[in-house]
Amino acid sequence: MSGRSVRNGEPTNDLVLSAFTVGNDRAFPSILGLYVKPGSIVADVTYGKGVFWRRIPPEQYELRASDIRDGIDCRDLPYTDGEIDCVVLDPPYMHTPGGTAHGSASPFEDYYRNNKTGNRTRSKYHEAVLELYVDAGREAHRVLRDRGVLIVKCQDEVCSNRQRFTHVEIMQAYERLGFVAEDLFVIVRNNRPGVSRAVRQVHARKNHSYFLVFWKRDDRRGVWKPPQ
Ligand SMILES: C[S@@+](CC[C@H](N)C(=O)[O-])C[C@H]1O[C@@H](n2cnc3c(N)ncnc32)[C@H](O)[C@@H]1O
Repeated sequence: MSGRSVRNGEPTNDLVLSAFTVGNDRAFPSILGLYVKPGSIVADVTYGKGVFWRRIPPEQYELRASDIRDGIDCRDLPYTDGEIDCVVLDPPYMHTPGGTAHGSASPFEDYYRNNKTGNRTRSKYHEAVLELYVDAGREAHRVLRDRGVLIVKCQDEVCSNRQRFTHVEIMQAYERLGFVAEDLFVIVRNNRPGVSRAVRQVHARKNHSYFLVFWKRDDRRGVWKPPQ
């Protein structure tokens, strides 16, 4: 025993690290557990197959799962202002068919081309990806309580030969919406990403994606306090 007094529990070396080499189903519970206390109302607004929730006991959070496939658009949620403790957002994040670094992430065109699923955006390609993130972020800001948490999954991409650091663009846009960017986690893909043959490689082929953590800024001092 060190005799050191610890105000909020036992000291531990078992810390959540900023980079993961495991899948979303293993990384997400650690990230959620670090930022959101058990019993919280969590709206996963792009629930998909629910991979994020596979290893989380159902009684741990009050999960509200929705997806555009069930007719609920993440840009127009059926919640009142400030009702939600945490929003989870993981929309399709690539415009390149078959070019995603994550096999489970559906190519952008499946969801956007011809607006088949109602994803009407004013723009195309990378701009359309960003536009959905920004519009969904604005809606998340509305439904979140003050100091509520927004967890966003995203990936950078090269679009029309231009490097687009999507995670930076999202951070800049969300700061303007009234969020504080608090943390960033890197998810490294274990197997080789699909590669199309290239005569000359220009940019690194991406084999990582991100979880970004934001909280809704309020009038108090801008310092994050972990959930008690
Ligand atoms: C990458 S997948 C999400 C995977 C999910 N996180 C999981 O754990 O299985 C993207 C999801 O976003 C949904 N989606 C696309 N546009 C949407 C929108 N405007 N509103 C809500 N969901 C949307 C798709 O139907 C798809 O299920």
